[in-house]
Amino acid sequence: MKALITSGGRGTRLRPITNTNNKHLIPIANKPMLFYALEAVAEAGIKEVGVIVGSDTKNEIISALGNGTLWDINITYIEQDEPRGLAHVVKISEPFIGKDNFIFYLGDNMIVGGVKRFIEEFEAYKPDCQLVLARVKDPQRFGVPEIKDGKIISIEEKPAKPKSHYAVTGLYIYDNIIFEAVNNIKPGARGELEISDAHQYLLNKGKVVRYSEITGWWKDTGEPEDLLEANRLVLDRAFELEHRQIEGYVDDSDIAGKVIIGKKTEIINSIIRGPVIIGENISIKDSYIGPYTSIHNNCEICNSEVEYSILMEECRVINVDIRIERSLLGRGASIIRCTGRPRSHRFLIGDQSRVEVV
Ligand code: DAU
Repeated sequence: MKALITSGGRGTRLRPITNTNNKHLIPIANKPMLFYALEAVAEAGIKEVGVIVGSDTKNEIISALGNGTLWDINITYIEQDEPRGLAHVVKISEPFIGKDNFIFYLGDNMIVGGVKRFIEEFEAYKPDCQLVLARVKDPQRFGVPEIKDGKIISIEEKPAKPKSHYAVTGLYIYDNIIFEAVNNIKPGARGELEISDAHQYLLNKGKVVRYSEITGWWKDTGEPEDLLEANRLVLDRAFELEHRQIEGYVDDSDIAGKVIIGKKTEIINSIIRGPVIIGENISIKDSYIGPYTSIHNNCEICNSEVEYSILMEECRVINVDIRIERSLLGRGASIIRCTGRPRSHRFLIGDQSRVEVV
């Protein structure tokens, strides 16, 4: 069994963060999203992993992942010139996959509980294709199966009128017949070779398409709100047991709940309410950090309040007297209260940024 993990695509719904960062490297609980996928396949015992990289961001991905020694796997990079669809990703990966079965894992999906059990099911039942479904409130955002008598009878990509409450998640396990499918379909409505059309091709040919339902949690991190929710869920999970790890300096600040504080970080006269992860070399002074917040290395927070947010590296939040909540701050972003006259808001924000003021 090999694995194929995506890190290409456009990430348009996460602009402006994705103008300068590949979406798959956005930190969730201070760890790049893509690392969770690599950990999951490594944990399932897979050694040969193909990572799909877009031509525009491949260097960033390669320098973050290296050759895979961190996970004791071998990574082969497969370059896709343009995001031409998920079935196109499979198509160009045929030389890497060869005759093996493989798990196809969308690198922007966060799945807790690993992938081992899905692989075990595939190996036990030997279908041509094993899909993993999740019950969702908004199926029109996903590939949606129609199910009859416990069997999938059709699959549509982002249908206006979904035929079930299920989403096909970004975790698929295939045998070699998938290559026949991806080589015989045509681009769909958004001009891409759709993976749902490849699945429909298999159904039309009478191939065995099995499914199992995800019981833990799953998140497609398409929108900013999804990232915050994934961050919340990982922080909850990471700290299942009562857990506190403080490597930096904390004065008599009030720390409660599950908290990780990294090296060279100083917490002075502040309140921290976990679950919270605070990285290295950070200064937090006269501030409140509330639950479900991840703060990455080299940030500075002074005289401010932050809760349920993700701060990437080198952010500064200084003297902001309104609590910052449900926010995503990209690398090097600053929010600073200006004193003096005239009293006004001053912004220096990039394309497609969003600021909500009260
Ligand atoms: O997350 C599950 C959904 O993923 C499924 O329900 C849909 O059936 C499936 O089509 C897919 O839909 P999305 O619209 O969410 O896919 P997206 O374009 O966001 O791409 C998913 C991942 O694949 C992401 O890691 C980016 C990468 N990608 C995408 C395309 C289209 C590539 O590497 N190359 C591509 O050409």
